[in-house]
Amino acid sequence: MKDQLLQDGKAVGDRMSRVDGRLKVTGGAKYSAEYELPGLVHGALVGSTVAKGRITSIDTKAAERAPGVLAVITHLNSPKVPGFAAKSNPDEPPAIGQPLRVFYDERIYFNDQPIAIVVADTLERARHAAGLVKAQYAAEAHQTNFEANKSKGFLPTQARRNPKSAQNDYTRGQADGYQSAPVKLEAEYWHESEMHHPMELQSIIAHWEAADRLTVYDKVQAVKGTQRAFAKDWGLPEQNVKVIATFVGGAFGNGLHNWPHETAAIIAAKVTGKPVKLMLTREQMFTMVGYRPKTWQRIAMGATKDGKLVGISHDSVGQTSTYEEFTESTVQQTRMMYAAPNVTTRYRILGLDVSTPIWMRGPGEATGAFALESAIDEMAHLIGMDPLEFRLRNHTDTDPEKNRPWSTKYLKECFQAGAERIGWNKRQMKPGSLREGDWLIGYGMGVGTFGANRGAAKARAALLADGTVLLQSATTDIGPGTGTAMVQIASDALGLPTDKIRFELGNSLFPQAPSQGGSSTVNTVGSAVNDACLALKKKLQELGGASFANVQPEQLTLADGQLGLKANGGPRLSFADLRKANNGQDVEVTVESKPSGDARQNYSMYSFSVHFAEVRVHTMTGEVRVTKMVSCADAGTIVNQKTAGSQMSGGAIGGIGMALTEGAVIDDRYGRYVTRDLASYHVPVHADAPPVEVFFVNKPDLLVDPLGTKGIGEIAIIGVAPAITNAIFNATGKRLRELPVTPDKVL
Ligand code: MOS
Repeated sequence: MKDQLLQDGKAVGDRMSRVDGRLKVTGGAKYSAEYELPGLVHGALVGSTVAKGRITSIDTKAAERAPGVLAVITHLNSPKVPGFAAKSNPDEPPAIGQPLRVFYDERIYFNDQPIAIVVADTLERARHAAGLVKAQYAAEAHQTNFEANKSKGFLPTQARRNPKSAQNDYTRGQADGYQSAPVKLEAEYWHESEMHHPMELQSIIAHWEAADRLTVYDKVQAVKGTQRAFAKDWGLPEQNVKVIATFVGGAFGNGLHNWPHETAAIIAAKVTGKPVKLMLTREQMFTMVGYRPKTWQRIAMGATKDGKLVGISHDSVGQTSTYEEFTESTVQQTRMMYAAPNVTTRYRILGLDVSTPIWMRGPGEATGAFALESAIDEMAHLIGMDPLEFRLRNHTDTDPEKNRPWSTKYLKECFQAGAERIGWNKRQMKPGSLREGDWLIGYGMGVGTFGANRGAAKARAALLADGTVLLQSATTDIGPGTGTAMVQIASDALGLPTDKIRFELGNSLFPQAPSQGGSSTVNTVGSAVNDACLALKKKLQELGGASFANVQPEQLTLADGQLGLKANGGPRLSFADLRKANNGQDVEVTVESKPSGDARQNYSMYSFSVHFAEVRVHTMTGEVRVTKMVSCADAGTIVNQKTAGSQMSGGAIGGIGMALTEGAVIDDRYGRYVTRDLASYHVPVHADAPPVEVFFVNKPDLLVDPLGTKGIGEIAIIGVAPAITNAIFNATGKRLRELPVTPDKVL
């Protein structure tokens, strides 16, 4: 049978269904907690009940006597983790990237900090026994109230150490130059911490295969990074640590760091000599894996009466813990989004007695865009201008921060496409003008941007005996459809149909790739896959000998089990003969691919998005319904409109959560979260999600990578929350600056 190549011969751009879709919907896809190992036992964590202080005693006797219990491990009997360097002074300031040293000493840094792990033969027995562990504390006064401590925010260590760090204060033009403008506004914005709640709970199976060989099945976004972290912790050569994350059930950033529960399970496996499975409970997801940090922002903005920005000042304080520093780029887009001559940004962090935050989809920028895009909308209203028109007046065709051209920027195309699709012409300038019965109707928009941050990655490509090509790279797929996109890219590069190509990921044995994060997997790993496929073809061409010597590589295909030419006629050589020429071995190559430094220095590379929302607000209950969303993206080449479209609409729904429903509430008397389940912490469900229409400009940016992709993961959510709050203003005339906008705030 002849291979079916796509009509135009291109797999990139096709709406191909996921290569792993069938496995995922039939239960064939194995997540970290689903591996069965001989002798597997179960762990359960015990959390502290005070937010700060010391453990004075811990009674584990009842737990040890409980049925099925193999071990109860606390700071008193835990084996030392060699990589947990002792602090010279326990009160020294937080370190960057040093996770909590679990079971290290008696100190408590946050409420629900893991203080013990119980290991038992079944999950139920482990959890039961965990409930029998009783600790006594010498509690100290804790600080979890952000508002009360806001003035104690400090400049991040990175910024103090490195004057060039993006975390430093920034000014162009006059410092706080907005003040000289004829029209001014100043406003403060708050959002509560948003907790990571992917469908798959964080889980790990830790297995010491020998005293110096560790294997983990772990829910992570970086298999190589995790391998390095655990090798360092345990003083092992990297190749002695194997990390498997073949399937990840949503991560959004919480898998970009290694957390105390992972090390707790590794310690438990060491103590018991058995593979230990540990899955966090939904409740523990609030305290043990990081979250989008509670943040305060202030925007001061000045403009002329005819709609030219004079200046923007953006101040922000973000929450972190006392034992570990976490920063994000909350104020970054204020520096480059609009053509304002005077811009000042200042970013501080505040250490509280809470667990450490982590990136959450569109980290920093999603928070910053809420303030910036709300203020833009408010300023447009003040000067009586349509907010879309106001943005166009302040559009910039070069990067005003770095003073250089964009690699590509098609934001205006996004504006136009989005305005048409949402029906922007129905929007009335005067808030409260549109009404249907008890519902007020409004329209709003918000812009997003995120760096097209391509990195370096390796990929292996091998032509196997059955005529298929196997690709491997140590990236992960947290849900966007990475494997599918890679197969499409490889198909075009090889001239081989997609069903003859397999892409394997999520294993630290594969060639180096960075974490799946920062919207950079397709441009980073995709480039490596593309280059590996071209190198494989070149190697096959060489094996083909004289008859292929003068052929351009682009003309070669691997269809129909042979190396041949795209055009009919010309030389043909079967895979069997090519393998024979390779001494009967698989023909394989491993290639590293990196961005060119020149282009990166001369151009600013960003993806852009704009989100439009239509909302209905109930005049008596304050209920907000998002009735339609349109999300438009300038993200370069779109490899797969189907999976990319899902990613965009998923981001928009995440943005609905940020705008309207998600906010963790802490009871400062105890420093403990009172929202500890999905009944009290509301993640949007189907009933909250309107149809999301997605539009892609789909024009390549060949300065970023050979495929022209820029990345969509983050811009899918950045700008969504202000689109919704701006629409609420348009509907009601009420400006809401504290997220989430629950009905009590609307009334
Ligand atoms: Mo993302 S916050 O880069 O997983």
